[in-house]
Amino acid sequence: MRDYRKLLELARFWDKDTERFFQENGRPIVDRALQNREEIIALCEFIEEHDIRSYLEIGSWTGRLVSTLHEVFNFDLVAACDIGSAKQFDFDVSLPSSALYFEGNSHSPIFENWRYKLGQIDLVLIDSDHSYDGIKKDFETNARAPHRFIAIQGIAGTTRSSDGAKRIWSELLGTKIEIVLPHLEIESTEPTMGIGIWSDG
Ligand SMILES: C[S@@+](CC[C@H](N)C(=O)[O-])C[C@H]1O[C@@H](n2cnc3c(N)ncnc32)[C@H](O)[C@@H]1O
Repeated sequence: MRDYRKLLELARFWDKDTERFFQENGRPIVDRALQNREEIIALCEFIEEHDIRSYLEIGSWTGRLVSTLHEVFNFDLVAACDIGSAKQFDFDVSLPSSALYFEGNSHSPIFENWRYKLGQIDLVLIDSDHSYDGIKKDFETNARAPHRFIAIQGIAGTTRSSDGAKRIWSELLGTKIEIVLPHLEIESTEPTMGIGIWSDG
């Protein structure tokens, strides 16, 4: 297993600055991967262990997470979708040059068509509209399309906006793997996000 802590050491995740901004403004409008570093290290181990070669991120924000994962794994196919809200805050969006990008609503029929055309995706990460209905729609669309694993971000979230992810996660049948780790970068001994990885099997 490669040393993902080392490989990710230069990447910025949800740290104390992000937390301060979030507490003051109620939204994490900062240009970094909006993730718990510990959980992404564990996700990288999962990706290696399961030989994930294609990755789609729904809700890619400024592109930091999808770009970082692609730098580490050089996926055969990398894709992202977002409504483009980062641009409204004047952030540059940086995606891998080979990324297939859908700018628009992941709940739209056009997205569903685009998703079918992508074909088999080994790992889809749903991290966009965190409402129950929004996640359910994203999950169902991707479960209908060829896939191996579908991950949902926020299954152990501590804010009310995580209620949807928690509920969906509790309802899903199938094989479920949980990556739920303390958020050390904000000096919390508790998890604040959590990633659930589902497969049909
Ligand atoms: C929490 S951020 C994603 C963070 C990103 N995955 C990361 O790790 O840095 C949520 C993103 O979902 C996008 N989003 C929200 N609803 C969406 C929808 N219906 N379709 C596509 N993107 C959506 C927002 O524009 C925002 O960029």
